[in-house]
Amino acid sequence: MHRQAVIFGSKGMLARALAAELVSRGIDFVGLDLPECDLTRQTDVASVFGRIRPSVVFNCAAFTKVDACEQQVELANSVNGYAVGTLATMCREFDTALVHISTDFVFSGNGQHPYQPTDTPAPVSAYGRSKLLGEQLLREANPQRWLIIRTAWLYGIGGPNFPRTMVEVARQGKPLCVVNDQIGCPTYTEDLAQVMVDLTLARARGIFHCTNSGPTSWYDFAKAALETFDIPADLQPVSTEQYLAMRPNQARRPAYSVLDCTSLHTALGRTMRPWQQTLADYHRKVQDNGGF
Ligand SMILES: NC(=O)c1ccc[n+]([C@@H]2O[C@H](COP(=O)([O-])OP(=O)(O)OC[C@H]3O[C@@H](n4cnc5c(N)ncnc54)[C@H](OP(=O)(O)O)[C@@H]3O)[C@@H](O)[C@H]2O)c1
Repeated sequence: MHRQAVIFGSKGMLARALAAELVSRGIDFVGLDLPECDLTRQTDVASVFGRIRPSVVFNCAAFTKVDACEQQVELANSVNGYAVGTLATMCREFDTALVHISTDFVFSGNGQHPYQPTDTPAPVSAYGRSKLLGEQLLREANPQRWLIIRTAWLYGIGGPNFPRTMVEVARQGKPLCVVNDQIGCPTYTEDLAQVMVDLTLARARGIFHCTNSGPTSWYDFAKAALETFDIPADLQPVSTEQYLAMRPNQARRPAYSVLDCTSLHTALGRTMRPWQQTLADYHRKVQDNGGF
């Protein structure tokens, strides 16, 4: 990477881990986020490309509030969809590699086997539809080198995330009802950041599924997180149906969204470690950081 790399959405949870990974490998980059660089403003994006002529762009920017996307569909499509198309067009014009992050939520979740990158997406939420739109527009814009990394159930330092919410609610002594019939793979941002850089350096192209390994339910993930943080909690398993009855405005989420990461293994000769091993690292990081 002779020219600088750029991270869009640099204040976000994954971007923070990616920035640390790039620093540790001595890779020069510029991080950009709102308000100075709004991905939905074409002039902002054009000015970044004109100024930096990036070798590679990591797009970690997104409107990630899954429930809010149901009410703010236009904003979701604008950030997660159309802006990605614009970015991909710029990348084509400037011969810039594009590494874009997508999600397991592009799938319906009605399957029972891990989803392959080639499986047909059928999102069940506005967020999932907006992310799929981004994937489609990226591919239509046909940048020279593009990489879509679909990941899932992300957590790490510097952002709201599921284990953090569990720990914070339990610390307040409140009871927790967590669904036990949605299955996926938790993914630690630091592990994903390593893979993002490795795939980029390996000049991988196409769609890759990248999660920590091993499926689990939100309930079992919550239980493991609370045990790791050593917080006693009143944790009850509930079905999705029961949960939606308590919170009817929630977006629908895939029931089963395990991603098949074989292509990652083919490209790098390894997959990501089991998710259970990542919680202790997260716990240590939270302690070192003095908070979430
Ligand atoms: N979190 C998950 O569980 C999960 C799972 C699967 C895939 N993903 C994908 O992984 C990627 C990173 O997720 P994350 O959890 O790290 O997200 P995040 O913490 O919400 O970070 C996203 C960043 O993008 C910024 N942003 C929003 N709109 C923007 C715009 N118009 N222009 C420029 N920046 C903008 C956000 O700013 P504000 O905070 O000010 O809005 C935020 O700093 C996303 O593509 C997401 O879809 C996430």
